[in-house]
Amino acid sequence: MDKDIARILLPHDRISARVRQLARQIARVYADSGPALTLVPILSGAIIFLADLIRELPLKMKIALVQMSAYPGRSQTARSPRTVIRLSGRVRGRHVLIVDDILDSGNTLRRVQAMLRARRPASLRTVVLLRKPTKAPPDVPVDFVGFDIDDVFVVGYGLDFDDHYRNFPHIGVLRAELMK
Ligand code: IMP
Ligand code: MG
Repeated sequence: MDKDIARILLPHDRISARVRQLARQIARVYADSGPALTLVPILSGAIIFLADLIRELPLKMKIALVQMSAYPGRSQTARSPRTVIRLSGRVRGRHVLIVDDILDSGNTLRRVQAMLRARRPASLRTVVLLRKPTKAPPDVPVDFVGFDIDDVFVVGYGLDFDDHYRNFPHIGVLRAELMK
């Protein structure tokens, strides 16, 4: 696996330190929210970030998973969405914090935010570990950001290429010839 990585952008110890800072920032915001907090990680990219983040958060919380899945059935007209969003728990009246790996075009988060907003949470916030600022769209609000990075394709710490490299402990840039 390591030989597929061209360079390390963020070594694991830097990620850990930043996740601890983010957790402190998040804990302050939710200090007075009571027990009605639900973290909503977007599968699968957010799993490593979520696992580290929640163990730094001394808050009572539930977790509800969001998954984007291929649209079932044979509805293939150009206008119909090709994916559906599944949510594994109830969020109505709860303080919801979406957890995602990276904000790139924002298409994923825009849809997940709209789906959750429609379910009437008490509040809705978003944390992303990474953001590509050149592309981050103004209509997709994020409340907490780990790192702003350049517009390069990165893998590791949950981020994948073709579902591989999620277990690489650092965040790195994949060798260009592997992405063809
Ligand atoms: P968006 O919908 O374009 O904002 O992209 C969101 C999803 O695309 C992320 O949750 C990732 O799964 C994937 N993605 C975007 N950029 C990268 C990258 O640099 N490396 C790996 N996955 C990425
Ligand atoms: Mg992905």
